[in-house]
Amino acid sequence: MTGTAARRWAELQSGRGVPPEILAQAPADPWVHNPVDFAAPVVPADTPSRDAALALLGEGGTLIDVGCGGGDATFAVADRVRHATGVDRQRDMLERYATDAAARGVAVRTVLGGWPDVAPEAGTADVVVCHHVLHNVVDLPPFLRALTAAARRGVVVEMLTRHPMAWLDPLWVRFHDLHRPPSATDDDAVAVLRELGVTPEVRHWERERTPPHDPAWVTRRLCLPTDREPEVAAALAQVPPRSRSAATLIWRT
Ligand SMILES: C[S@@+](CC[C@H](N)C(=O)[O-])C[C@H]1O[C@@H](n2cnc3c(N)ncnc32)[C@H](O)[C@@H]1O
Repeated sequence: MTGTAARRWAELQSGRGVPPEILAQAPADPWVHNPVDFAAPVVPADTPSRDAALALLGEGGTLIDVGCGGGDATFAVADRVRHATGVDRQRDMLERYATDAAARGVAVRTVLGGWPDVAPEAGTADVVVCHHVLHNVVDLPPFLRALTAAARRGVVVEMLTRHPMAWLDPLWVRFHDLHRPPSATDDDAVAVLRELGVTPEVRHWERERTPPHDPAWVTRRLCLPTDREPEVAAALAQVPPRSRSAATLIWRT
């Protein structure tokens, strides 16, 4: 049975979709992430998520990184990881993850597909990390249950406290007259976890890394053709900058 918090999450997330008529005239897919934007830094950022994963890994252990992208979460704790499984639904992300792992001497395998569908293939590990994926998910309970079931010691989830695209909501109104519901928050995710019987530890912090936000990138996200870039640049100057407010959710299993 779906709880109130899970229904609220699903409603808020569904309201963030792009209507088919706008998607149909988009010159480029607004959803696809560029692996270059997700390359892991050589020296990992010192974050509460890294601290939590290191504490769970202890002297060492195995890891599953759900929505691994370029491997930021895995490589931040690589020296404690005996073996990592990177799961992602984008093949080019997994290629980048595997190439970077080989260069860093980290033993990994990759599983292509959407979580939780591919959870059986991923198996179990001591620690499960999942960074910046929850805001992509509509049906949260099965996603979270599968994270818990895959972890022998604990789970570390990192997310922005608001949807990563919420800062563009005024531009959706301006260019498409599309009014979005408020963003789901980390509090909403915690409420869903509580409905599942999990009370995570929550740490709030400011992210240093700045994801892309240049006019060309925003123009594609807004499903507009490249010749609208100057207009988008002018409009962008009027909106508050992208928030860096992040939350780390940690629970033992
Ligand atoms: C915003 S990126 C974050 C990548 C990386 N975790 C990081 O923090 O740099 C989200 C990644 O999750 C992947 N993803 C989103 N939903 C997914 C799902 N249900 N199952 C597997 N991968 C997913 C996307 O393909 C993308 O590579």
